[in-house]
Amino acid sequence: MGGTAVPLVNLAAQEEPILGEMRAAIEGVLRSRAYVGGGPDGPVARFEAALAQAVGARHAVALNSGTDAISLSLLACGIRPGDEVIVPAFTYNATAAAVARIGAVPVFADVHAESLDLDPGSAEVAATPMTRAMVPVHLYGLPADMPALLAVAKAHGGLAVVEDVAQAIASERGGKRAGAMGSRAGAFSFYPTKNLGACGDGGAVTTDDPEVDRLVRTYRNQGEPPGGKRYVHERVGWNSRLDSIQAALLLVKLPRLESWTEARRERAARYRRLIADAGLSGDVRVPPDGPGRHVYHLFVVRVPHRDDLLRHLESRGIGCGVYYPVPLHLQPCFRDLGYRPGRCPQAERAAAEVIALPCWPGLPDADQERVVAAVREFFRGR
Ligand SMILES: Cc1ncc(COP(=O)(O)O)c(C=O)c1O
Repeated sequence: MGGTAVPLVNLAAQEEPILGEMRAAIEGVLRSRAYVGGGPDGPVARFEAALAQAVGARHAVALNSGTDAISLSLLACGIRPGDEVIVPAFTYNATAAAVARIGAVPVFADVHAESLDLDPGSAEVAATPMTRAMVPVHLYGLPADMPALLAVAKAHGGLAVVEDVAQAIASERGGKRAGAMGSRAGAFSFYPTKNLGACGDGGAVTTDDPEVDRLVRTYRNQGEPPGGKRYVHERVGWNSRLDSIQAALLLVKLPRLESWTEARRERAARYRRLIADAGLSGDVRVPPDGPGRHVYHLFVVRVPHRDDLLRHLESRGIGCGVYYPVPLHLQPCFRDLGYRPGRCPQAERAAAEVIALPCWPGLPDADQERVVAAVREFFRGR
């Protein structure tokens, strides 16, 4: 059917107006030739300071991905092979893979029926004497119930809580921003399609704890502590540094994040109106708009006959996506952990019902109306 008329995401709409600034930022790094590191005045250090301020955390450490941000946060909190780490069963696979990569054991807990974030009651049941940490995810941009999850962590001997903020930069709850909601650390991703995206891979950890900051800096740089002697390695580390070019590009984009976030929220509010006005509320369950500030990394609705709707929208040139079709406790890579269908019913239900509709800053009114008209056409025809 002749290409995608309404794309699911649209980086061009976001980047065209700032291409000149992005080019200048790249050129600045080319001229400096400080491609990695760059010292206290370089783009990496400046981006870390700007990110810490935007999140409301004392420290930020730039890394090469969100996946490493989770792994290194856990290592910095002292998580070791064999330790159990509670993760939601419904999220991107990286949340649990980052746990398994350091030899720890992901323990899958169910998600809340409405928010689809880690359910505190299920996390409570999942905790055992071997549990050492928990990684709540602010899925799609909606903050998880951090007060309740932090209470569970406290009740179980002070589990280390690492927020997975990959999809939720600038979201807020109770006056606190994601990544600084009382956890030990926040893990961010700057994958290009994220709300704040680099032009390649990137990530970061935020924390108020100077020791977590020091250890993440140590791990990211082959185990050399900051301020230590060159080629003296305190630990076996990783290579997980953010390139200067990516930091320079993120510095161009970060000041726009607030207006992009408001634009996403405004598009989401308009979807709610359009869906209700089209008489679709019986078929299409819109996402909860709170508690807290949802930043709509994805606008995800829940529907019956999801796969048929997906095909219908694709046939109309409307980009849509399923995040995620297989819950993590049933992923082939975690088969050895022995989970069976039925163990996390809300996650399994969500995996069968969710579909993301195009929702990006600058999505034209007419395109949004076209999306809703195509959804209505589908349900009318059934
Ligand atoms: C919820 C979640 N966690 C972790 C990640 C991993 O981030 P990255 O792709 O930067 O490694 C992503 C994104 O890809 C994500 O959506």
